[in-house]
Amino acid sequence: MTRLLKVDPQSPQRDAIERAAAVLRAGGLVAFPTETVYGLGAHALDPEAVRKIFTAKQRPDWDPLIVHVRDMAMARPLMKRLRPQFELLASRFWPGALTLVTEKAAQVPAEVTARRPTVALRMPWHPVAAALLAAADLPIAAPSANRFGCPSPTRAEHVVEDLGDRIDLILDAGPTPMGVESTVLDLTQSPPAILRPGGVSREELEKVLGNVSLASSISDEPAAEGLRSPGMTTKHYAPRATVELFENAQLQASRADELRRASKRVGIVDTSGNAERLAQTLFAQLRDLDAQGVDVILCVLPPREGVGLAVRDRLLRAAGVVAAKPFRGGEDSRE
Ligand code: TXA
Ligand code: MG
Repeated sequence: MTRLLKVDPQSPQRDAIERAAAVLRAGGLVAFPTETVYGLGAHALDPEAVRKIFTAKQRPDWDPLIVHVRDMAMARPLMKRLRPQFELLASRFWPGALTLVTEKAAQVPAEVTARRPTVALRMPWHPVAAALLAAADLPIAAPSANRFGCPSPTRAEHVVEDLGDRIDLILDAGPTPMGVESTVLDLTQSPPAILRPGGVSREELEKVLGNVSLASSISDEPAAEGLRSPGMTTKHYAPRATVELFENAQLQASRADELRRASKRVGIVDTSGNAERLAQTLFAQLRDLDAQGVDVILCVLPPREGVGLAVRDRLLRAAGVVAAKPFRGGEDSRE
């Protein structure tokens, strides 16, 4: 039976954090909030604990995990060498929604990195995540706490829905502040490559690094027509309903009419705020529309700037427009 402990998002209760830290030290699984989404955490240096994550999520073993750290002192022994760019970016963006990929140290288990020579590291700022890392005093491997392929969880209720009976403890601190996952940046490529757009924007990274490339798997230029037809392949971040995407509200409105005339139940994603607001609510909106039993979900894509690039990426994957396929040569990062 999973225990759910409510904690204050700003100043988490000591006893709840200590209980969660004890579960991690003993090799158990704890779901906890970060500023991006809820993570499903395990002791990163305990291979057996890490394997439990893959089983609980039904995550394929080719997809490596992010290791969360409390500070640079915890990060340093997990990497083979400290790249100058790593140091620069960490000083600028940590704690925060930036995950850095670098060569791994021998002590990082193959289970964590899916037998890759690199490890993905991130220092979260959410007070609950930070308190848990400090109390446990160990690096925490944590993917998003959803079932593989489903939208990432931005509320504890989503974790319960997907994984409720499969984990030892859930720390419930309410909705996560950002709502979209961290940016994954590969420092082993030159120039550094964004493998997954996320909470830290490409523009912010370019200010610090100069040139940054986008992995080829991040398609941000689908033809308007193409948006209507879901792809044939596996979907990610995907609700049960079909997702259709539009570049503007007029196109969306006429499609909604057409679907309603055909007696389809239509759900429309509320995009009335800015891209940050949409990022915060997107995954919850997709889950809520599914719960209402709609057949088709329609959404107008935000512009590519800032966090808009990440939101577009998740929507395209939810629609199945961008195919999800296993890694090839480190080029590809999606979940
Ligand atoms: O915001 C986030 O990043 C959240 C919170 C919990 O920190 N975590 C998260 O983890 O979204 P996950 O596992 O759902 O996504 C991690 C992404 C995956 O696309 C994975 O393939 C990629 O990071 N990744 C992890 N290690 C990697 C590595 N060594 N090389 C390339 N990509 C890696
Ligand atoms: Mg994920």
